[in-house]
Amino acid sequence: MITIKDKLFVLDTDKTTYAFRVMPTGHLEHLYYGRKIRIDDADGIADQLGFAPGNSSSYDKDNAISLEDVKLEISAPGKGDVREPSLELINSDGSFTSDFLFDGCATSKGKVREEGVPCSYGEDAEVLTVTLKDKENNLMLKLAYTVYAECDVITRSCEIINNGDGAVTLTRVMSLMLDMDPGDYSYITFNGAWTREMGKNVQKVGMAKLVNSSYTGSSSNRANPFVMLGKGAFDEDYGEVIGINLVYSGNHYTSVEQNPYGKVRLMTGINPNGFSWKLEKGESFRSPEAVMTYSASGCNTMSHNMHDFVNAHIVSGKWKDQLRPVLINSWEASYFDINEHKLVKLARKAKAAGVELFVMDDGWFKGRNDDTSSLGDWTPDKKKLPHGIKGICDKIRKLGLKFGIWVEPEMVNENSDLYREHPEWAMRIPGKKHSTGRTQMLLDLTRSDVQDYIIKSMSDVFSSADISYVKWDYNRNFTDIYSAALPSDRQGEVAHRYILGLYRVLDELTKKFPEVLFEGCASGGNRFDLGILSYFPQIWASDDTDAYQRGIIQNGYSYGYPQSCYTCHVSDVPNHQTLRRITADTRFNVAAFGVCGYESNFCDLNKFDFNEIKSQIEFYKKNRRLMQYGKFWRRSSFDDGKILSWTISSPDKSEAVSMIMQSLMTPNSQSDILYPRGLAEDVKYHIENRKTSFDIREFGGLINHVVPFHVKQDGFIHGVIAKFVRINSESESHEMYGDAMMYAGVHLNPRFASLGYNDTVRYFPDFGSRIYEIRTA
Ligand code: DGJ
Repeated sequence: MITIKDKLFVLDTDKTTYAFRVMPTGHLEHLYYGRKIRIDDADGIADQLGFAPGNSSSYDKDNAISLEDVKLEISAPGKGDVREPSLELINSDGSFTSDFLFDGCATSKGKVREEGVPCSYGEDAEVLTVTLKDKENNLMLKLAYTVYAECDVITRSCEIINNGDGAVTLTRVMSLMLDMDPGDYSYITFNGAWTREMGKNVQKVGMAKLVNSSYTGSSSNRANPFVMLGKGAFDEDYGEVIGINLVYSGNHYTSVEQNPYGKVRLMTGINPNGFSWKLEKGESFRSPEAVMTYSASGCNTMSHNMHDFVNAHIVSGKWKDQLRPVLINSWEASYFDINEHKLVKLARKAKAAGVELFVMDDGWFKGRNDDTSSLGDWTPDKKKLPHGIKGICDKIRKLGLKFGIWVEPEMVNENSDLYREHPEWAMRIPGKKHSTGRTQMLLDLTRSDVQDYIIKSMSDVFSSADISYVKWDYNRNFTDIYSAALPSDRQGEVAHRYILGLYRVLDELTKKFPEVLFEGCASGGNRFDLGILSYFPQIWASDDTDAYQRGIIQNGYSYGYPQSCYTCHVSDVPNHQTLRRITADTRFNVAAFGVCGYESNFCDLNKFDFNEIKSQIEFYKKNRRLMQYGKFWRRSSFDDGKILSWTISSPDKSEAVSMIMQSLMTPNSQSDILYPRGLAEDVKYHIENRKTSFDIREFGGLINHVVPFHVKQDGFIHGVIAKFVRINSESESHEMYGDAMMYAGVHLNPRFASLGYNDTVRYFPDFGSRIYEIRTA
């Protein structure tokens, strides 16, 4: 609900309140963001501003306050606020002082997706627009606040309009600025690199600025735009936590800093580094939308708010709220070495295992035998696909599977017909040497002819057969940022214009192919953000499918993104990224807590491993709605210790699936306690583990304690026995009330600890794990 009273603005969601007011000077003063409170007027809530202390500057002679210590909604340089500004521009006279003062406001109901920049949408949205003016420079600033009451989310964005005669140059336009009262804050960011995305990083906020930003051209795997701010002591279920994200896929920036008086300023928006935007007379510039949520009960609640928001107000189109298919992707099974015969053979096996969608990854187009050539030439390689895309697609469809395809449309290799024909379409600085990434170049998506080419070439591919799914890849970072289509004083616009060009392409293609399930990918999670999720309902979380590392990566994503958005594959061992060997059940258990799929050569699996996969898929399909759309709870993670523990519970609390996984096993330690979440306290539940079996060779020479003859470890006889005998997992079940499960915990069967082995013992080696199904008894 939005309440406006005497220039006081109060924005209420179900459990939070955000408030600001117009000061006598005309500046917007931030008052409060936190748990829901009642505010009639600013009395007692607003800072008691006295005088400008020490050598700080006074705003003007009538208002002897210093903006340096006022909590503001926006800040521009030159009027005494010497903290980091949220808006910076060069006026037409070359000065860079701005002074935006209140001019009016309006409210409206409902918000639709607009063309150009992606944004949240919803019939239930309430929007407040506050207009400010810098009269001396003829500029107008519109601040938009959107309230999504039911998920406790408020979004912010701004638009700047040049009403003057001369051009101005924007050098910084933050989407959101949040000034807070003094306190003990922690800044939590999610950082990493290729194959190790989303590592949680916690830092104390102090007087030296902390910045989480990307300068790769994309939202990046180095620093995801989702961040959190914790106040005082907080954990998964306790304390005050704010979550912030940006609906944007390009260079982003979020800083947090304490001023000398203890107040803390956070801001988020397009990275000002390398950004400038010329605004001619009458033109306007719109920032991406920033998203914020607050929880008074720890990170899990903050995540639930973000998850509900993303599912309801970001993801759109046919696949919104829809069950995502279990797919198999050809990449790790064959890499570039694919052909129709091989793929159909793999698809036949996949069908027998219960897979629903077959994805032909990289390598299918003319001359593409490695990553040095052919990007840009989107016609099938006749040697590999003699009957074209349609030929293989029809064969796969005949098996009863849907068919999907991989593309990387934003790129071109120098060794391609496209580059030979249109070298000017590649991003590079004319006449200068350029750098490549994965031997490829970016197409200059700031150009409408390049956008049109991508739309046309992709439309041809997507309509050439019965294609149900597209994996849209993007495998390099920006270098040599330059567009031959823009004048020299507009080169600072290239990185942002690229993203706007990309959004136009994605918008047109997703509208043209509404049935297709699009999956974003950027070498895994190099562009995992709310901008991409506005067009593609799911994103390949990481090229790393090692279950231990995936436990860390998916745990990181789960803070800001719902599990319906990140895809997770079970792959072969040793793992292709880490060479680690983790049991098939753990590989599945981790992948099941997201959109589960496979990336494995099923044709090479033995009977037991194949049957294990079959039963995994059966389990996943049975619990799919819960696993993809239930409430995700973190109990513990490898960040804090050795145990990773997650639960997904149904909104009606009738069922849940919990997982517990360990990193390295501690010898002679038998107990584990599982603490499920999201259950009704006074309801009785039945809990039992998912049954599986293990290869007898995992017990090595211990086999000699149970067979009457000597077996040479890993020898021929050992292999023969392993073909017929498996070690079954323990069978464990309990009936308990929800409160007992959640607060006393389920005390699990003893772990393997060398001695005393029997059939109740939980075989739990390094990276061992179990999944438990919980249903009302
Ligand atoms: C990078 C992706 O992340 C992989 O999954 C795969 O599609 C390759 N590109 C193909 O080149």
